[in-house]
Amino acid sequence: MPPWTAADIPPQRGRVFLVTGGSSGLGAEVTLALCAAGAEVILTCRDEERGRAVAAAAQGPVQVRHLDLADLASVRTFAEGLTEPVDVLINNAGVMAVPHSVTADGFERHIGTNHLGPFALTGLLLDRVRDRVVTVTSGLHRLGRVRPDDLHFTRRRYQRWLAYAQSKLANLLFAYELERRFDNAGPPPPDPESRTPGPISLAAHPGVAATEGQRRDTSFQGRLLAGGRAQPPAMGALPLLYAATAADAAGGTCIGPDGLFQRNGHPETVATSVRSHDTKTARRLWEESERATGVRYPTGG
Ligand SMILES: NC(=O)c1ccc[n+]([C@@H]2O[C@H](COP(=O)([O-])OP(=O)(O)OC[C@H]3O[C@@H](n4cnc5c(N)ncnc54)[C@H](OP(=O)(O)O)[C@@H]3O)[C@@H](O)[C@H]2O)c1
Repeated sequence: MPPWTAADIPPQRGRVFLVTGGSSGLGAEVTLALCAAGAEVILTCRDEERGRAVAAAAQGPVQVRHLDLADLASVRTFAEGLTEPVDVLINNAGVMAVPHSVTADGFERHIGTNHLGPFALTGLLLDRVRDRVVTVTSGLHRLGRVRPDDLHFTRRRYQRWLAYAQSKLANLLFAYELERRFDNAGPPPPDPESRTPGPISLAAHPGVAATEGQRRDTSFQGRLLAGGRAQPPAMGALPLLYAATAADAAGGTCIGPDGLFQRNGHPETVATSVRSHDTKTARRLWEESERATGVRYPTGG
């Protein structure tokens, strides 16, 4: 089979996608490609000016809305304001290897922005998501250790790449656990407007893509971990687009690039670390995430 490209995105007319962090990098590429396929996109960002610039370049309708994932009050305000159903939620926004700081709620910034904010957002929107939840992780999840009793690095020495890696492993634990909970909940009552029997949850990662976030870290360690030459953002966006639109993208999987060490290439289902499949840690992370955010999911464990 020839490699999957953006030209293979099935027609998306009538479908609504919510893309977090759509104002730059991969989120912007995903927005443009989805609109070119006929989709309607709700793009969230902190800097609405940048979001509007992406909307202006898109070939279809894009609503730009404010959302700060590092602030649970903003997540709640956004979720309350979103009344329409969403076919696909793409949890893409994230920060990468930033110096130590905390979110509005006192969470370490990576786990707060990359996991706890999206965890709260997904839980608050769950009854409005019809088709799937795609959570964006990173190959660097392999360096991470999720410590549900020390998510905020109060007992470990803070290292920004390890904090980033913990949050990206948390993304996978969350995506897989959400899929298990969807499975346990059984099929929802039939929705005449939905094309699928019920939502699925899966993960995707872009390999190494030359975005602002990726370029920001010019340290030796950053360049080493990023793994040399980065592919263009449009290529990095392909696994996210495949995960979000392909009929054969399965729940409980991760889509990544097919090249050496999953650093570049075209989308395929990829293996993730043994730790990412640890159901005990996934359940403990889930409980701690519900406690920290105050958002309780309707799906049982
Ligand atoms: N590029 C890569 O090589 C690579 C590799 C592996 C994984 N990833 C993952 O891909 C995703 C996108 O990254 P990118 O490379 O496209 O980076 P990027 O260009 O820096 O984009 C990140 C996006 O996240 C948004 N964001 C950051 N903090 C936020 C917050 N507190 N609330 C809401 N939105 C926030 C940013 O919007 P603002 O304008 O509001 O800052 C921006 O739109 C991330 O989850 C990242 O971990 C990227």
